[in-house]
Amino acid sequence: MTTDHSADAPPGPEGDRIVPHGIDVETPHKARVYDYLLGGKDNFEPDRALAERLLHKEPRLREGARANRRFLMRAVRMMAERGIRQFLDLGAGLPTRPNIHEVVQEVAPECRVVYVDNDPMVLVHARALLTGSPEGKTTYVDADLRDLGAIVEKAAETLAFTEPIGVTAVASLHFLTDEQLAAVLPALREPLAPGSALAISHVVTGLASVMDDYRASVGSGYPRTPEHIEALFDGWSLLPPGLVEPDAWRPGPEIAQITERASMADMVLCGVAVLQEQR
Ligand SMILES: C[S@@+](CC[C@H](N)C(=O)[O-])C[C@H]1O[C@@H](n2cnc3c(N)ncnc32)[C@H](O)[C@@H]1O
Repeated sequence: MTTDHSADAPPGPEGDRIVPHGIDVETPHKARVYDYLLGGKDNFEPDRALAERLLHKEPRLREGARANRRFLMRAVRMMAERGIRQFLDLGAGLPTRPNIHEVVQEVAPECRVVYVDNDPMVLVHARALLTGSPEGKTTYVDADLRDLGAIVEKAAETLAFTEPIGVTAVASLHFLTDEQLAAVLPALREPLAPGSALAISHVVTGLASVMDDYRASVGSGYPRTPEHIEALFDGWSLLPPGLVEPDAWRPGPEIAQITERASMADMVLCGVAVLQEQR
């Protein structure tokens, strides 16, 4: 972990709940709203109030968050099964079992995972992420996706950029503007070795009115068209089945167990691509 200024700070009260100093409990935060949608406990009243308002507008949001998380886990498992042993998670979110390192170290215990996020609450809880297998390594970088250079520099303390890396930008790139993405995506591709993989999930314009409300509360969040989301993979080779809704991406037995499932293609799309030898 790079900086850990708040995890050791004495706690302060929020009602009868212990809240670490440095955590803003007055306004909703992206990681905590998502945590609430996933059924987690690391959230506060403003996060829950916003999530409930959004759920009122779009009841599929909760299942959408769960489907997104299922996609993330299948994507990293597939990468590990292809032989990738290093992972860079951009916009990690609060720890939610299973976490990436638990899935990939099950395939190969020597896997190394670097989690990145810029949310202070994620930083506080990052310790829970740093419990990987003794053969592998799990670290946390407190950094902003808009500063890809700093992320690569810090990640290089744990990951060898001469070898393939599985990058996950799952439900995180939609927090960047078009201009920011235009700078970040080439800067992400450039230092990676051939054989690296990229998983993206991203909210779609069908969710525009919900995202307007969300953005007004948390500061960013830009739904994009399917064509625009596919273009985020420019320079990469998209693997089958291409860009699809989360549960349609190489569904595993866990999807078969879900009896009632609404289509979500108008809400969120995802895909996994690889970096070929010739670029
Ligand atoms: C919706 S959560 C997704 C978490 C996880 N990737 C998943 O799909 O389960 C998005 C995460 O991206 C993080 N995030 C948003 N903008 C960011 C930025 N500019 N730099 C770093 N992290 C960011 C948020 O703090 C949040 O934890």
